[in-house]
Parts: sequence; C-alpha cells; structure tokens
Amino acid sequence: MALSAPRGTQDILPTDAARWQALEAIFRQFCTRYGYGEIRTPIFETTELFTRSVGEETDIVSKQMYTFETRGGDSLTLRPEGTAPAVRALIQNNLMAAGGVQKLCYTGPIFRYERPQKGRYRQFNQLGIEAFGAAGPDIDAELLIFAADFLQAVGLTDAKLELNSVGCPACRPQYREALRSAFAGVRGELCGDCERRFDTNPLRILDCKVPHCKELTKDAPVILDILCDACKTHLAGVEKNLQSAGVAYIINPHIVRGLDYYTRTAFEFVTGGLGAQNTVLAGGRYDGLVAELGGPSTPAIGFAAGEERLLLSAGDNFPMPDAIGPVFLAAMGATAAERVFALATELRRAGIPAAISYGGRSLKAQLKEANRQNASYALILGDDELSREEIILRNMSNSGQEVIALGEVVARMSEI
Ligand code: HAM
Repeated sequence: MALSAPRGTQDILPTDAARWQALEAIFRQFCTRYGYGEIRTPIFETTELFTRSVGEETDIVSKQMYTFETRGGDSLTLRPEGTAPAVRALIQNNLMAAGGVQKLCYTGPIFRYERPQKGRYRQFNQLGIEAFGAAGPDIDAELLIFAADFLQAVGLTDAKLELNSVGCPACRPQYREALRSAFAGVRGELCGDCERRFDTNPLRILDCKVPHCKELTKDAPVILDILCDACKTHLAGVEKNLQSAGVAYIINPHIVRGLDYYTRTAFEFVTGGLGAQNTVLAGGRYDGLVAELGGPSTPAIGFAAGEERLLLSAGDNFPMPDAIGPVFLAAMGATAAERVFALATELRRAGIPAAISYGGRSLKAQLKEANRQNASYALILGDDELSREEIILRNMSNSGQEVIALGEVVARMSEI
C-alpha cells in the first residue's frame, strides 16, 4: 500500500516554497519595522500549559489537542497555538526583567485535531506577534495597524477588521450572570457540552458550533452593553487611534474567540473566498495570562494568522517577486564538460546560482533543460571556444549571444 501524509497535513513542495518564503520575508520586514524579535519555542509543551491558558472548556483543549504520554510518563501536547508557549518562555527566561515592552514574533507549525476542509488543517502554520508590558490602547492600535498593513502587503486587499471587547475581571462576572439569566429558560435544550458550560463558563456557549445552540443563543445579551467604564474607555481609545491611522473596522459584539485568556480587545480579520474558514488573522489582549501562569503581572496583546489561509486567500494577488533563474552551463564534449563543471563551482562559490546538466547529454537536451529551469543566461562551451579560452554567453530571454573570455565569466556574471 502506498504511504501518504496523514489526513489534514500537506507537503510544501519546492514549487510552492517560494511563496512561503516571500510571505515570511514580508512578515519579518514588518516585525523589524515594529520592533518584534523572533522567538522559537518547542513544538511540544507540557499539556498543563494549554489546559491552564487556552482553557479546559474550549474546543481546542477538550477536543483538538494532540496529547501523548512520554516513555517517562509525562503528558505532552503538540502546540495547538503560539501564545501560551510565548508566555511560558517569557516567564521561564525572565524576559520582563529587561524592563520596557517585550515584543516577540514567531512562525511555525501548529497542531489541532479538526475536521479538515479548505483552509482548515490538522497541521498548519501560524505567524504571530505578542507584545508584553503595555496596558494602554495605543499598543492595541499599533498592533492592529501592523496587521492591517501586513494583510494589504501580502495581497489580502479585501480583509475586514472586526473588533470587540470581551471585558475584564471587573465586568465579565456580570456578563456571565446576564448570559445565565438569558439562557436559564432554554438550558435543557442546549447540547451536553453547553449544558455543562452554563455552570462553568457560559461565554463558551456563544462559541458553540452546534446549530441548535447557535439558534437558541442568537439573541443573547451583548457584552458591549455591560462593559465597565475602564473597558469602555480602553475600547474608545483603540478606536480613536485606528481612525487616525485610517484603518477601517466594524464593531462586532459577537466575537468571543475560541480561547479563554482574552480580556478587553478581541478581533478578527475576515476575507471572502475561503468559505467557512474566513478568519485569516485573529487575536486580542490577555492581561491576566502571564500572572496566571506564574509570572509577574503583565498586560499583553497579540495576534496570529494561518499562513495557509493567507496564501489561499491572497491567490494571484500575492506579490510574488520575479523569480531569477540560474545561469545554465552547457558543454559539448567531455573536456568542455569538465571545464564547465569547474566553472559552475566557481560561480556558486561567488554566490551566483548556477546549474549544469548531468551525464553528458546533447546540446539540444541541455538547452531544453536550461529552459525548464527558467535560466536567465546560458553559458555554452564547445571545443572551438575552449581552444580560444572563450565561451558563448546567451541571454535566454531575447536569445542575444556574445562571446566572452573564459577568465571573465565570474566577473561578468556578478555584474549582471
Ligand atoms: P486562533 O484564532 O485560534 O488564535 O488562530 C489564529 C489563526 O490561525 C486563525 O485566524 C486562522 O487563520 C489560523 N488557523 C486556526 N486553526 C486553523 C486550522 N485548523 N487550519 C488552518 N489555519 C488555522 C490563536 O491561535 C491565538 N494564539 C492568537 C493570538 C495570538 N492571540 C493573542 N496572541
């Protein structure tokens, strides 16, 4: 039986890799502009990190984690998101001791056991940023401007920002109570999970995917009506900064997010064309998480985007840099082939991408190979040229040819 990659995973082949590299290069440019330094955390962490941060009642923790026991008996989990690992690393490495705001960015694989469909995978890649140590709405707006401009830069010109506030420990208990009173009459009709969530965390009922629960809760009270003054002022501050930066947004009071750690600002950027999986980038503030995981009380905010979704959604709008093909070296005859082999090494050592064909093929076959590899130039060496210490330089785009000295090849190609 032929082996294939597990369901919900995919190979990124050399033909796609250029797009991935370009996407991550643009992300890195933005990170540099905004002062985010890269962090690389392990692919797996202790399971407890995610149960304590993302939340026991969330779909991610209750249904989607790849959790396994090690030979030593520890419970580990393939990371289902990047925020909790960043917080764990911040605390463990005492990064806040440096003072000021710590800005971290990351890219890498994330694992969730979900039903695969277009834009939804079991192993996918996120790029994300997390800023620690700033409580005011200015950093929220800065991060949203980063996100909006980044999405534009990668060709997602139709991405729309939906913004909400999910309150804070001062006003959320009141919202929980409001939800309980609103749902009390239909409690028995909710799905088993939601019935339990009614007691443990009624906000999670709003995130339930079961159609009947959705129907029962569609007119639920909205948190914006219950926010405390400090949360209202914070949201107003974010809005003011977004407006002055010219970032368009709508307020969507139904955004609850699928993770429990959020406080105040919560947001999603959505696009058309991806069907149900239309959220390309999402995040929010999580002022309590660092302390909950044992660190110093530290306000924080961040976002993450699915790289597969970004590329799918950008489609042909993605700003692919022009691919510059290699210099292709073709030889006629064994002596010329030896010389061409040495010349290819010389070019590569000088930093110039060079390709040759292997195994002494006809000139026609070699030039065909040059075209297949999208070569920008070909260098063709026959016996005649070799005897004069010369080589033919052919411009593959206009077929213009000239003869140059063999000794000048590297200098000439560097110039080009
Ligand atoms: P999230 O909303 O769970 O947030 O995921 C962020 C993004 O990852 C989504 O908007 C989507 O683009 C992508 N994504 C999620 N699940 C899948 C999947 N199964 N297949 C493909 N792409 C997917 C978080 O993960 C938070 N850690 C974001 C954050 C950072 N909040 C604060 N800082």
